[in-house]
Amino acid sequence: MNQLELIRALPKAELHVHIEGTFEPELMFAIAQRNHIDIPYKSVEEVKQAYNFHNLQSFLDIYYAGANVLVYEQDFYDLAWAYFEKCAEDHVVHTEMFFDPQTHTDRGVAFKTVIDGLQRACDDAKSKLGISSHLIMCFLRHLSEEAAFETLAQALPYKEQIIGVGLDSSEVGHPPSKFERVFAKAREAGFLIVAHAGEEGPPEYVWEALDLLKVNRIDHGVRSEEDEALMQRLIAEKMPLTVCPLSNLKLCVVEDMADHNIRRLLQQGVHVTVNSDDPSYFGGYMNDNFIAISEALDLTADELKQLAINSFEASFIDDTQKNHWKNQILALA
Ligand code: ADE
Ligand code: ZN
Repeated sequence: MNQLELIRALPKAELHVHIEGTFEPELMFAIAQRNHIDIPYKSVEEVKQAYNFHNLQSFLDIYYAGANVLVYEQDFYDLAWAYFEKCAEDHVVHTEMFFDPQTHTDRGVAFKTVIDGLQRACDDAKSKLGISSHLIMCFLRHLSEEAAFETLAQALPYKEQIIGVGLDSSEVGHPPSKFERVFAKAREAGFLIVAHAGEEGPPEYVWEALDLLKVNRIDHGVRSEEDEALMQRLIAEKMPLTVCPLSNLKLCVVEDMADHNIRRLLQQGVHVTVNSDDPSYFGGYMNDNFIAISEALDLTADELKQLAINSFEASFIDDTQKNHWKNQILALA
């Protein structure tokens, strides 16, 4: 089996994907039309031309604008279902997807509308495609602590459907410490905790995510390499980093894929995983990310397998399921 065949054959878990970031222009146009909502583009080509980001904020501005056409339960279902079909193509057998409730509730869409649509797609993915999933809701860090508390309160009736709470949006200037109290309350309520840190922000934000938010995983975290003591902490605690190579390239976190540090992190013993982040915007889904790093960094078959094993070990599934997928990976030639 060559590297490409191995990547396709490996069962994989995706732990860092924003469902709003899987919104393909074709579906965006279709939903905008049926909801009678204007979008500032005339064609799919025009949308794609607008995707020339140079940093996180220039991406987020377009990402939030795109999400504006999502209004009804069926819209959220269609969005998530389209993503699950991509998972099936890429042999992603388990996914833990982020959603940004505030992006929708701030426009008057009910929390229930969002969660019902996503949950129905998750149920269908299990029964029709055999793909398991969890939902993680993220607080938008450019908004206030008070707004995050309100969102947490709205989520409590759906506690059984939401496994964890995360932190996303504009990183620099909005450190994890801003949300220490609301994450303490989320932990008390029984949610698992993740947070974006060390994407554009400094290693100090990763320390804060660990020490103040008490995260179970760090999302991105690639800038941790700048701080040797932090690296030792991540290795000692086997703290997962959900790394998103094509995202890092598109948002200029790295200049060239050949410069990406995921292989160095793996070789040093950091528990890194591969993920797509916002695949519709960044040029690829799970396997595209694997292929990009495999080619640019000349990854070995053992390294590719280790990355797939890490994805299950870092996931929120139980040990029986983890062992099941790990054995399947080890059995591949
Ligand atoms: N929201 C969607 N994608 C994101 C990313 N890569 N970083 C922060 N917030 C996001
Ligand atoms: Zn992200």
